[in-house]
Formats: sequence, structure tokens, C-alpha cells
Amino acid sequence: MMPEQRTVLVTAATGNVGPHVASQLLDEGVAVRALVLDGDPHIAKLPDGVELYYGDLADPDSLDPALDGVDGVFWMWPFFTLGVETAPAVLEKIERQASRIALVSSVGVHIGLERRDDNCHAYLEELTDKTSLDRTFLRTTGFMANALGFAGQIKNGGVVRSPYGAAVRTAVHEADLAAVGVRALTDDGHAGKAYLVTGPQAQSQEETVRIIGDVIGRRLSWEDVPAQAARDEMVAGGWPPSYADGALDYFATLTTEPEVGSTTVAEVTGRPARTFREWAEEHADMFR
Ligand SMILES: NC(=O)c1ccc[n+]([C@@H]2O[C@H](COP(=O)([O-])OP(=O)(O)OC[C@H]3O[C@@H](n4cnc5c(N)ncnc54)[C@H](OP(=O)(O)O)[C@@H]3O)[C@@H](O)[C@H]2O)c1
Repeated sequence: MMPEQRTVLVTAATGNVGPHVASQLLDEGVAVRALVLDGDPHIAKLPDGVELYYGDLADPDSLDPALDGVDGVFWMWPFFTLGVETAPAVLEKIERQASRIALVSSVGVHIGLERRDDNCHAYLEELTDKTSLDRTFLRTTGFMANALGFAGQIKNGGVVRSPYGAAVRTAVHEADLAAVGVRALTDDGHAGKAYLVTGPQAQSQEETVRIIGDVIGRRLSWEDVPAQAARDEMVAGGWPPSYADGALDYFATLTTEPEVGSTTVAEVTGRPARTFREWAEEHADMFR
């Protein structure tokens, strides 16, 4: 059992998932600390009641005030901008203070695509496994928010040009991923679990764009482009080349072998996973 007055630190707090984690933890009566970079322009995404702690995951010592006296950590690691060099030292500091951790990992680990040498989620899982922390791995599929990557093309003409429109995924609503993590950090019985966290439906990328079109009342279309063109753009946009290659290979596979969903969200949270249509309705203005 965690102590009565629990305190949880949320990393990547102002991203796609962190604000959901913060507000759901507050609803549970947990004291919430958000780790934010000095000058973070997205602090307004955090709900009232969250305590801000300035710190940089690239500088482990800067996390000392944020971690002092915490019980749990919702741990997300921004690989693209950070690499993994400081992850072991950050985890060591977490282990010194907290008793629990919920790590946002990836479906890539779950299905064996991602390995420790990729210096990605598999590496973080391996590091975390070596600690004494009560740990839960949230092996998530793609976020529904990834569809925001199409917003520019949808606003400017309505033709989405991207590779593998037939790739079928089971994207998860960020609030549902957060909800599974919140249960792991506040209830007993989740230590040692590696949950596959997905949305409720399998749907192709083309279908995803069609649903956005339905919701905003416009006819949108998809045009497949060669993977190489997308790879060049991804790498130019900051993706590590090996990660871009892995993602594109995975999408190619998903055109013939659809991603398999799970019932984790419903089982762990007690409520059905949100659909992509619900997500699109909530975010419609971002596509208009
Ligand atoms: N997208 C997917 O489909 C998917 C699938 C599987 C797993 N994941 C996991 O999800 C993570 C991304 O989550 P997200 O989409 O919520 O994040 P995000 O929207 O990309 O936001 C990243 C967050 O991390 C903060 N941050 C960046 N560098 C930092 C640093 N050096 N120190 C402290 N904070 C820092 C950012 O702050 P600023 O706003 O100040 O930059 C921001 O709050 C990935 O790294 C991956 O592990 C994603």
C-alpha cells in the first residue's frame, strides 16, 4: 500500500499524455508534481492544482527538488530530443525516492520488434526491471494524437499524402493511456505487469482520415507516397534514422497484418476505451 497522502511526479507533463495524467491524479486526491522545462510554452495545458517543478531530464541533478519525497512517478521519456544517455541516472534518482513507477513503453516491445539495442523503450524497461521499484509497463500502441500530424494537409487542401494508408492500427486515446497509468500508480495489483494498451478499434490510416472528414464535414482523401520520401521528412524533423526505419517497416507490415488490440483499458479502468471518433470530435478545431 502507498501512504495515505500520495505524491506523484509526472514527466513529459505538458505533452499529449501528461495533462490527462495530472488531472486524473488530482481527481484521485493525489498531490501532483509536473516536471517542466524552464520556459515551457505549454504550461497552460496543466490543470490548476498541479505543482510545477522546473527540471531537465538531460540534467539528472536538476530533478532533485521534484523527486524529493515523491511516492510514485509517471515516467515518459522524450527520446527524439533527448536520446537515452541520462536515463540511467534519472532512474537511479527515482529509485532513491519513489516506491512506484508507471513507464510509458511501446507495443514495439510487446511484439518483439523493439530490442534493448534500439535504445528505446526496451532499454528503459530493462533498466527499470533492475530496480527495486514496483513497476508497471504501459506498452502502448500509437496515440490518437498522431493524427495531428495530418492537420496541416487537411487544412490545406484535404489530401493527406503519406505512406501506407492501408496500415491498420488500434490507436489509443491519450486519456485512456493516462487512466491505465493512474490506476497502476494508485491501486494495488499492477506491480510487475506489462500491459498492452490500445484503443477499442482497428482502423486503417485512410479510415482515420475519413473519420476526421466526417467529423469536420469535409471530404478528405488519402494518397500513398513512397516510404523513402516520408523517411527523409521524418529524419529532417528530428526522428533518429533507426527509429524512422523501424516505424516505417512496422507500418508496411500493418498493411497485411493488422495490429492486434487489447482489452486492457476496459479491464484496468473499468470503463470502455474511447473511440477515434470521440477523439476526433474533441479535437475537431485543430483540423479546421
Ligand atoms: N506517439 C506515439 O504513438 C507513441 C507510441 C508509443 C510510445 N510513445 C511514447 O510517448 C512519448 C511522447 O509522449 P507525448 O506525445 O505525450 O510527448 P510530447 O507531446 O512529445 O511532449 C514531450 C514532453 O516532454 C517534455 N520534454 C522534452 N524534453 C524534455 C527534457 N529534456 N526534460 C524535461 N521534459 C522534457 C516536453 O516539454 P516542452 O513542451 O517544454 O518541450 C513535453 O512536455 C515518446 O517519447 C514515447 O516514449 C509514443
